[in-house]
Amino acid sequence: MINSDLIKKRILIIGSNGMLGQRLTEYFLNALNVELFCVSEEDESFFSQAAYKKLDITQKNKVREVILGFFPDFVINTAAFTNVDRAETEKEIAWKVNVTGAENLALYSWTIDAHLIHLSTDYIFDGVNGPYTEVSKPNPLCYYGRTKLASENLIRTFGLQHTIIRTNVLYGPAKYGRPDFVKWVVNSLRDDQIIKTVTDQIGNPTYIDDIVSAVNKIIEFKKEGIYNIGGAEMISRFDFALRIAKFFNLNERLIKPILTKELNQPAARPLRSGLITLKAETELGYKPYSLEETFVQIKNELNL
Ligand SMILES: NC(=O)c1ccc[n+]([C@@H]2O[C@H](COP(=O)([O-])OP(=O)(O)OC[C@H]3O[C@@H](n4cnc5c(N)ncnc54)[C@H](OP(=O)(O)O)[C@@H]3O)[C@@H](O)[C@H]2O)c1
Repeated sequence: MINSDLIKKRILIIGSNGMLGQRLTEYFLNALNVELFCVSEEDESFFSQAAYKKLDITQKNKVREVILGFFPDFVINTAAFTNVDRAETEKEIAWKVNVTGAENLALYSWTIDAHLIHLSTDYIFDGVNGPYTEVSKPNPLCYYGRTKLASENLIRTFGLQHTIIRTNVLYGPAKYGRPDFVKWVVNSLRDDQIIKTVTDQIGNPTYIDDIVSAVNKIIEFKKEGIYNIGGAEMISRFDFALRIAKFFNLNERLIKPILTKELNQPAARPLRSGLITLKAETELGYKPYSLEETFVQIKNELNL
């Protein structure tokens, strides 16, 4: 008889209380043949069934303790300093989390020959000529983008088994934490609030469950390298907001167009961005849901 524990994949999710981390946790908690361990910055996990420990990834010894203690086959790093504007003024902590944290994870994953799956972003590009492929030349405009590019570079040159997933504009039915773009639009319009959304930032908003299925394929096929994971449509944030309003039957006239430069945000954003997903489609069988399909799922899951 085969001991099923021997064929179980050991998966460690870093940043499990974040938007994407929550969804990965929910998925792998229910997966067969997976032994799951979750870590995030908070004292407790949102999921009482999950084996969980509080971990700050900037603390090298603690990272060592967790990785050598659990001995994962796969480490999925979703933890990051993700506040793009604050990263302009809080450079030291942004670097520490996004680069030093990633380096700590790379070091101990390498030590035990674990496969590190690391999340990155289209903010490594300048948004002049998007959408981008995996081999397009990075040129980050803001400090957050620089830290994420640095994390990619160090992981790629570390000599460990690794996959880098680049994605953009995440949204989906995460139940905890700050509202995503869809929830923000729906809640604002329901409260009859006027919202201003930019017409000149273009990307392919990515449904978090599409990333979960891509991660699952990467694990199944043990694929390494860089993969773009984005949504089915290239669209401006303004048009995205209109599509949300239309689907949820809300007043589109409350959505006002604005240009990015009018917002005077501390961090510069890539404007013509977005990620071409042909490689993931070909190699992973990746097929993102349509926008409307994702809205149906969000509506049902969150009772929106
Ligand atoms: N959201 C997007 O639109 C987007 C777009 C492109 C790429 N990405 C990338 O995708 C990944 C997941 O994004 P997300 O939106 O799910 O991010 P998120 O919701 O901000 O989650 C990130 C998690 O990391 C945790 N964290 C921060 N510093 C940490 C530390 N020192 N040690 C351990 N955990 C720490 C955060 O905890 P606290 O909340 O307590 O700080 C949070 O739970 C990130 O790598 C991000 O760069 C996101």
